[in-house]
Amino acid sequence: MVAAVSCRRRNDRDTLIDTQSTPLPRQAAVLQDDSGRVINNLRISVTDRCNFRCRYCMPEEGMVWMEKSELLSFEEIVRVASLFAQLGISKIRLTGGEPLMRKDLRLLVAKLVHLQGIRDLALTTNGFFLLDQALDLYNAGLRRINVSLDSLDQVKFNHMTRRDYYERVWRGLDAAETLGFGPIKINVVLIRGINEGEIGKFATLARARPFIVRFIEFMPIGADDGWTTEKVVTTREILQTIERETGMRLLEVERHGNQPADRYRFEDGRGEIGFISSVSEPFCESCNRIRITSDGKLRTCLFSLEETDLKRMVRGGARDEEILQTIQQAVWKKEPGHLINRPEFVRPGRTMSQIGG
Ligand code: 5AD
Ligand code: SF4
Repeated sequence: MVAAVSCRRRNDRDTLIDTQSTPLPRQAAVLQDDSGRVINNLRISVTDRCNFRCRYCMPEEGMVWMEKSELLSFEEIVRVASLFAQLGISKIRLTGGEPLMRKDLRLLVAKLVHLQGIRDLALTTNGFFLLDQALDLYNAGLRRINVSLDSLDQVKFNHMTRRDYYERVWRGLDAAETLGFGPIKINVVLIRGINEGEIGKFATLARARPFIVRFIEFMPIGADDGWTTEKVVTTREILQTIERETGMRLLEVERHGNQPADRYRFEDGRGEIGFISSVSEPFCESCNRIRITSDGKLRTCLFSLEETDLKRMVRGGARDEEILQTIQQAVWKKEPGHLINRPEFVRPGRTMSQIGG
């Protein structure tokens, strides 16, 4: 059972101007909300499509995809991203659906890598297309990738993803490592009753190979995921299981820092283990991220119930200043935090694959 806890992180309020008494800035090079959080991290979904059907994300059949014309074009994405960069966004992550299903994604990568103000570009992928695309992506300038991999057992992997692609994902991961991608993070969502028996194996992987294995707590955001608090395997439980099963203590690398993941490693580990405790210890108070859906809607929280339609502005001929101001106003009202642990929690109208993970 997951205890209802409030957000735990200290935010950077002390180092900021006092936003309570400051009117909404018209066009400052910083994006912040009315509780003092500075937003520098933008996740851009480039497609809602995916060739996997992970149980916690999508139903087996009947997904209805957006029309191609609904998606922001690469040119539109670059324009919007450069406006965000003017407002202080320095980190961009490309997501989906499965982002590598978007044709020629490397062309977008090559543009974003060189965008002024962007220090960090990353990609979250299910790994299927890495075997074919890793080299092109590397040549386009991408270095950081997160691969979703919820099981190290082929039969279980097939059960979780409803696809028989385990070998192929591993060949993609190996290719990425050989090419020199780094850091390579492996995202693991544990669901009680399915894959929580693999904690020790994943920890051992982070010891033996230079991967950052990140356990992400299961959240209620899939299409028909059957989420209940009982199915969430909490960070505390995972940590205890790792130490019990490996007989080794984990060393703390960073806890409660400005990343959502708390980081640990084994003394002799080549990689690291991260924990994203979105449910048991939400990090909303220090959240620095916002999202754009593949159809160009700005979402200020994964669990937002409202969106701001940037695509309509872009396609309607809005000037840069108008879009900048709209973004600032939307971000100013960023939700203080999610309500997963509270009775009044309402699931957003869109699922993770439609929002962008
Ligand atoms: N809970 C937690 N993580 C999720 N992801 C997708 N759906 C969920 C969920 N319901 C993760 C995927 C992927 C990342 C984009 O988000 O595993 O790694
Ligand atoms: Fe595809 Fe990712 Fe959803 Fe799995 S979790 S179905 S890989 S979008």
